[in-house]
Amino acid sequence: MTPQAGICAEPNLHGYYLMFNVAAGHEDEVRHQLAGFPALCHQVAEEFAEAAFTGLVAIGEAAWARLYPGERPAELAPFPTPGAGERQAVATPFDLFVQLRGDRVDVLHLAAQRLMAKLGGHLMLAEEVMGFRNQDCRDLTGFVDGTENPQGEHRAEVALVAEGPFAGGSYLHVQRFTHNLAGWQRLSLKEQEDTIGRTKQDNVEYASADKPLTAHVKRTNLKDGHGKTKEILRQSMPWATLERQGLYFISCCATSCHFSDMLRSMYEGDGQGHCDHLLRFTHADTGAAFFAPSETFLSQEGL
Ligand code: HEM
Repeated sequence: MTPQAGICAEPNLHGYYLMFNVAAGHEDEVRHQLAGFPALCHQVAEEFAEAAFTGLVAIGEAAWARLYPGERPAELAPFPTPGAGERQAVATPFDLFVQLRGDRVDVLHLAAQRLMAKLGGHLMLAEEVMGFRNQDCRDLTGFVDGTENPQGEHRAEVALVAEGPFAGGSYLHVQRFTHNLAGWQRLSLKEQEDTIGRTKQDNVEYASADKPLTAHVKRTNLKDGHGKTKEILRQSMPWATLERQGLYFISCCATSCHFSDMLRSMYEGDGQGHCDHLLRFTHADTGAAFFAPSETFLSQEGL
């Protein structure tokens, strides 16, 4: 089973994120065209080798049964919405998520045009966001993002389903966060660092005893019953216009429960009132769950 290259891709300079809904009655044609998506991506990657291009298509939780009425990935479930009131995660389902990544924006644009030439008549575009590398992989809060991501071969171990009919696939969770940067910048450096649980300039992890229970890394570094860290592979990138900015957050994992557990820990806290204080300065406007099947699955099922 060959996984889609975009799942474990190494960090790039640019990301182009597209959300679509599938027009009613066009499911067979979409499935057929998606079978050619891996070949389209390989073609672009070969033509522009220096762009380090990768593509990824993921199928929305609710759309899966329409597009692939046969077997379903066991853990594909609606996007979780922990929390309450102002601090509650939202679910905004989409049928398809396309991630185009590389080091040249023109190559991403070309790939998107080729995709739309094949699929455009069958899909409605619901969201289009350009992500970019900010300085040395810093989120727009100024903190380096991705440091504790799995590295090397471990990326595949964390992100890809290992066996069964969906081997080589990945559970994806996507949230578009908008930051309140004015509020964030009013914090002192120490308050910002306490909110994340790392130092800002040098990106050093706080000693365990110094991490507030409300620090982002405290709330997201979770262990299972055997003391093993619950890991996800984050493929997030900053996005920005002149007026609004934030993080396009993407989690890829062999299981959907690691992300759900982290999200609950952030929004609902530890049961003693310790929620993630980063959520005071950023708000998720979207939240959607997907499964990104292997290239092998896409091409076989589309015939
Ligand atoms: C760590 C930023 C949302 C999961 C971090 C770090 C930063 C950061 C700066 C520390 C460096 C690193 O290891 O990458 C953000 C921002 C977010 C966001 C700005 C939203 C606006 C999320 C969400 C999740 C998550 C929604 C999962 C539900 C993690 C994990 C770590 C991490 C697992 C590593 C923790 C560790 O083991 O130290 N994040 N994050 N993040 N974040 Fe986030």
